[in-house]
Amino acid sequence: MKHLTILTGASRGMGLALAQQLCQRPQATLLCISRQTSPELDAWAAAQGANLVQWRADLAQPIPVAQKVLAWLQQQDPSQLASATLINNAGVIGHLGPLSPQDEQVLQATLAINLEAPMQLTAAFLSATRAWAMSKKILNISSGLGRRAMAGSSMYCASKAGMDHYSRCVALEEADLPHGVRIVSLAPGVIDTDMQTDLRSGDKNLFPERDNFVNLKQTGALSSPAQAAARVLSYLDRADFGAQPVADSRDA
Ligand SMILES: NC(=O)c1ccc[n+]([C@@H]2O[C@H](COP(=O)([O-])OP(=O)(O)OC[C@H]3O[C@@H](n4cnc5c(N)ncnc54)[C@H](OP(=O)(O)O)[C@@H]3O)[C@@H](O)[C@H]2O)c1
Repeated sequence: MKHLTILTGASRGMGLALAQQLCQRPQATLLCISRQTSPELDAWAAAQGANLVQWRADLAQPIPVAQKVLAWLQQQDPSQLASATLINNAGVIGHLGPLSPQDEQVLQATLAINLEAPMQLTAAFLSATRAWAMSKKILNISSGLGRRAMAGSSMYCASKAGMDHYSRCVALEEADLPHGVRIVSLAPGVIDTDMQTDLRSGDKNLFPERDNFVNLKQTGALSSPAQAAARVLSYLDRADFGAQPVADSRDA
């Protein structure tokens, strides 16, 4: 019986580490979605004997991606699946600075990638798997910044706060349904990826906390992508996954 996972943002960063670790699990079937595919991941999956499909897609335009995912899920045979999981991991920091009309397109794209795409993919996943009786989970990769406001990052903070709150709503909606989906919006800690490079590259005049991110790197406080991915997957495996729809992998 296969363990099916749909994972966004698997081309690099923590998503790539999540994909690599999932490929090591028995009977792994992965659908990965990013703008770029990873040849390294293709080779890794083949070596592990995992069934991997990578799609190139831009989650700044989430509706056609969600429609394609819905159609793909509808073609799966649920009798062959032990579990089905959606991991909304892709994310961007957006513009670092106060909101300004100059950044209207960055604002639109940041909200689409960080919030609308997870919601559209959640809708597709819930619809396609409604009658499926196996274990079903949605894991949204959120951020401590969805819970703590930070000057100069309202696009990111607001989108992650939105992710947390829609997860709470879905958890309530699914709780009493037969074969309901368990959902968690999980903060993964601070990770040494391109996103941290973006934070350290901000303009200090517009983004006052920039030096805190420089310090995190200099003091070795960042987790490696592999460490963060292992913590996230360990949270996903918890028997009580879904009991708290908003959580932090560092509390596990
Ligand atoms: N790094 C941290 O310290 C930290 C802390 C808290 C939370 N997080 C969260 O953890 C998750 C992973 O972050 P990360 O640090 O691994 O980021 P990252 O290294 O910047 O990787 C981001 C991933 O998202 C994908 N992505 C970005 N824009 C996309 C688009 N328009 N369409 C499709 N895919 C897109 C990228 O793939 P392509 O470029 O190939 O499209 C890439 O695979 C994010 O949700 C982030 O908010 C990170």
